[in-house]
Amino acid sequence: MFEHIRSQFAATFGDDNELQVVMAPGRVNLIGEYTDFNEGFVFPMTVDRGVYVGIRARDDQRVRVKSIRFGELIDYRLDDFEKPEPGHWSCYVLGVVEELRLLGLVPNGFDAVIDGNLNLGVGLSSSAALETATALALQSLFGFEMSRVDVATLCQRVEHSYANVMCGIMDQFASGLGRSNHALLLDCRTLSQVNIRTNLDEYRIVIISSEVKRELASSAYNERRSQCKEGVALFKRCDPNMASLRDVSPDLFDAYGDQLSEVVFRRCRHVITENARVLDASAALAAGELPQFGRLMTASHNSLRNDFEVSCDELDYLVDIASGTEGVLGSRMTGAGFGGCIVTLIHKDATEVLKAKLAAYTERFGLNPEMFVLNRNLEAGNVVGI
Ligand code: GLA
Repeated sequence: MFEHIRSQFAATFGDDNELQVVMAPGRVNLIGEYTDFNEGFVFPMTVDRGVYVGIRARDDQRVRVKSIRFGELIDYRLDDFEKPEPGHWSCYVLGVVEELRLLGLVPNGFDAVIDGNLNLGVGLSSSAALETATALALQSLFGFEMSRVDVATLCQRVEHSYANVMCGIMDQFASGLGRSNHALLLDCRTLSQVNIRTNLDEYRIVIISSEVKRELASSAYNERRSQCKEGVALFKRCDPNMASLRDVSPDLFDAYGDQLSEVVFRRCRHVITENARVLDASAALAAGELPQFGRLMTASHNSLRNDFEVSCDELDYLVDIASGTEGVLGSRMTGAGFGGCIVTLIHKDATEVLKAKLAAYTERFGLNPEMFVLNRNLEAGNVVGI
C-alpha cells in the first residue's frame, strides 16, 4: 500500500517529497455488541486491512484532500471551513481536521491522499479507521501530543457531530488502540483496557461479509439506544445509583425487570447478559479455552437475534451455515447488524469446507459473500516504504 499511496500522491500533487504515510485498521468485534453506549464491555480486535493517508504539510492555510476510492478532491482554506454533508467521506476527514484545529493543533494547511483496502459499509468500521488515520496523520505531521485514548474520543465526537451517528466508543478505540496478535478488552465506562493475546493455536478467526448494506442501521440503532435508556430509567427508580445498564445486576433485573414493557425487557436482557459474556469470553480466550469462547460467541448471536433484534435473515443464515460446519467452535454477527459481517472461530483445516458451503447462501439470496481468514491483524501508525 505504501507504494500505491506514494504514487497516487505524486500523481495528484506533482511529487512525493517529504510524504508521510499513516494507516489505521478496521475492526471486527469478537463479542460485546451494543454494550459500549451502555457503559459496558466490548472485545474487538483490528483486522488486516485499513485506511491509508499520505500527507505533507503546506506553508499556507490551504487544505487539499483527495479520496482515491471516490475520485474526489476537496480544496478549502482552514479558516473557511464549511461542514460537509453528513455521511459523505469528507465529513469524517474534515471533521477531524476541524476538531483538531479548534484545539490549536493544526497550525497550517496540508495536502493528502486517502485510500485503503478495507471494504466500506460492511460493518468493519471503515469510518472509524478513516477518522483515526486522519487524526494520526495530522499528529505525525504537526507533532502534537495527544494520547490514543484522546484521539479515540475526538474521533467519536466527529462521528456524532459531523456524521450524525450516535455511536459508542468501541470502533474508534479498536482502530487506534488495537494491537497485533491481541484483542482489546475495553471497559467503556472507565476506558481502561487490557490487551489479550489471541492464542488461537489451530483455530482461526474468519470474517464473512453478507454483502447486505446496513441501510436500516442508523434509525434502528438510535431506537435501541433509547430503549436501553428507558430500561435504565426504571432501574433508577428502584435504586438511584443506577447510571446505566452496566450497573444492573442479573439479580436486580430478575427482581424488577417484569415492570418493563416486553420489548424493553428483552433489550435490557441482551445488554446485561452480553456484558457477562464479554467478561467470560475474554477470560476464556486468555486461558486458551477456545470451545468455551466459541459457545459464548454463539450465545451472543442468539441474544442479538432474539432479544435485541438487530440481526437479519442473511446474517442468521450465514451463522447457521458456519455453526453447522465441523470444526467451528462459535459464530455470530458482528457490529451493528442489519447486514454487515459475521465472525467465526473455526479450525484452520475447516476453512475451505466453510467457504464451499457459501454457495448455498448465494443461491438463496443472490449475493456473493466475501470470506477472509484473519491470519494477522494490524496496528495503527506510520507506514514506512520498502
Ligand atoms: C456500531 C457502533 C459501535 C457499537 C456497535 C454495536 O459499530 O459504531 O459503537 O455500538 O455498533 O456493538
